[in-house]
Amino acid sequence: MMAEKPIHEVIADEDFARRRAEAREKLDAIDPARQGHGDDRFRRDWFHAVYALAEGDAAKVPWGNLSPHPHLAGWLANTRLDGMRALDIASGLGDNAAALAGQGAEVTGFDLVAAAVDWARQRFPHIAFHTADLFAAPPEWAERFDFVNEIYTLQALPAELLPQARAALAGFLKPGGQLLVIARARDEDQAIDGPPWPLTRADLLAFESCGLLLETLEDIPPGATPNRHWRAHFRKA
Ligand SMILES: C[S@@+](CC[C@H](N)C(=O)[O-])C[C@H]1O[C@@H](n2cnc3c(N)ncnc32)[C@H](O)[C@@H]1O
Repeated sequence: MMAEKPIHEVIADEDFARRRAEAREKLDAIDPARQGHGDDRFRRDWFHAVYALAEGDAAKVPWGNLSPHPHLAGWLANTRLDGMRALDIASGLGDNAAALAGQGAEVTGFDLVAAAVDWARQRFPHIAFHTADLFAAPPEWAERFDFVNEIYTLQALPAELLPQARAALAGFLKPGGQLLVIARARDEDQAIDGPPWPLTRADLLAFESCGLLLETLEDIPPGATPNRHWRAHFRKA
């Protein structure tokens, strides 16, 4: 595994960029977009393949930036989570979960892929990472969390799975609990060729039918990241 470095040094690292480009080529050869969007088993196998092909090299994981998402870091800069129980959805290499813990939360992270969970545990031994499926999560997580953080999982799902995913996310929250969603953004009429499938405003507003109230919805232009993003903050009624 490569040494930890600040993100600006990582992305400026030509060797990291070259290894990422090589990995993309291999992954493109098994791109689920070419295999049919509706095949959920293939989609799951693809995530397992990403971590297996990476062999412990973060440069070979497309989202393996070795730092929290910039829009999460920006949001947390003014927010403490002391005393809160937080859940990081599909935690990948664990950086977002670690950022939540850095603001005082007691954090649980989970991912579908055991190899990702082992990797995150190695990097952040103070955080409880579990292998679990968003669509079959442990029943004891129902209404257990004060704060749920979701980054880039919804956009990795075909549209037909979004209602079930939204219900699962809302179900983890205690009454009064908060959900933060960060995702790539698109307009309704914008053609997409996913995955990923950037979300529309309506995709986010639909959380209101799961008992969540929208507190803020930011439409963030490219800048801190190369793409337009949503950052949505909800509270459970
Ligand atoms: C695009 S990555 C984002 C990872 C992390 N949230 C981040 O922002 O770095 C999507 C992650 O979702 C995980 N995943 C996919 N389907 C899942 C499911 N049904 N339940 C839990 N995790 C899932 C994948 O293994 C992968 O780590």
